[in-house]
Amino acid sequence: MRILSGIQPSGEAHLGNYFGAMRQHVELQARGQGLYFIADYHSMTSVRDAELRRRLVRELVLDYLACGLDPRRSILYRQSDLPETCELAWLLTTVTPMGLLQRATSYKDKLAAGFQPDHGLFAYPVLMAADILQFRSDLVPVGQDQKQHLEMARDLAVKFNQSYGREVFPLPEPHILEEVAVVPGTDGRKMSKTYDNTLRMFWPEQQLRKAVMGIVTDSTPVEAPKDTAQALFQLWSLFASKDEREEMFARARQGGLGYGELKKDLAERMLRFFAPMRTLREDLARRPDEVEDVLRDGARRARELAAPVWAAARAAAGLGPV
Ligand code: ADP
Ligand code: TRP
Repeated sequence: MRILSGIQPSGEAHLGNYFGAMRQHVELQARGQGLYFIADYHSMTSVRDAELRRRLVRELVLDYLACGLDPRRSILYRQSDLPETCELAWLLTTVTPMGLLQRATSYKDKLAAGFQPDHGLFAYPVLMAADILQFRSDLVPVGQDQKQHLEMARDLAVKFNQSYGREVFPLPEPHILEEVAVVPGTDGRKMSKTYDNTLRMFWPEQQLRKAVMGIVTDSTPVEAPKDTAQALFQLWSLFASKDEREEMFARARQGGLGYGELKKDLAERMLRFFAPMRTLREDLARRPDEVEDVLRDGARRARELAAPVWAAARAAAGLGPV
């Protein structure tokens, strides 16, 4: 089974990315041939600074490797190391109905948020379909927000196969990571880099402690019963066993629990949880050449898998040598 997923290089990973995506990618490695890529082409629809992009790619690779992505078992590659993906995106573009892209909710959301649309943003799902279809991927683990893009990849596979009368692309199955609750940010909204409410697991210790102490809570006094639906409790629960959670929530409902105490404990737990990954990340950061080797080797292995599919698509479309 081939498992594929991409992540945009858009910043050092935060707790939402870890629990909502990265941890599961790492777990899925045991179930088949994992292919994970840094979607630097996709990031061009929002980041227009070359130096920043390079830095973000580097950070994300380190985050991924530190979190347990094993480059001996899985393939980790940089999207732009396979420029043929863009050619395949063109082949797919020519069978993509305008209406399909106009219905994309991520595109409509960006328009509503005041983005000046350009063709890259509009065509984003076609490039994503090329990412997926070039490996004849079986399983594509993504968050709920990407489900529609996956359905589009299926539609484009059907369109291409029908147009040229050949089964070049099998239909990929979405594997929606929906059992994961949304991780709240320090202000109670969804944790997201766009809201500036993140907790980044690899921040320096002091910065992390400070951010945890800044988690917004209500103003009930220590003695009063606490509302356990607050972000602080949800975040703390990510690092507690079921029993610990029940005990702590019972204490909170009784009254007598101070938020300061809980925050201190959360910071400790979080630091402990990520400690081995932090050490590994620091180690890797000192060996940039080795990290680059991982990406080079990943691109080589990814290319081997995609090459027959690129060739089949070109042949079906009548491109290349007669
Ligand atoms: P951001 O919202 O910070 O821009 P991205 O959209 O780049 O994050 O998310 C990358 C991945 O992490 C996606 O698969 C998404 O489902 C997951 N993710 C992001 N934020 C959260 C969150 N708060 N809770 C759970 N999963 C999240
Ligand atoms: N669009 C995805 C995101 O923003 C990233 C992505 C690009 C992707 N290509 C993909 C995910 C292919 C899965 C498969 O999260």
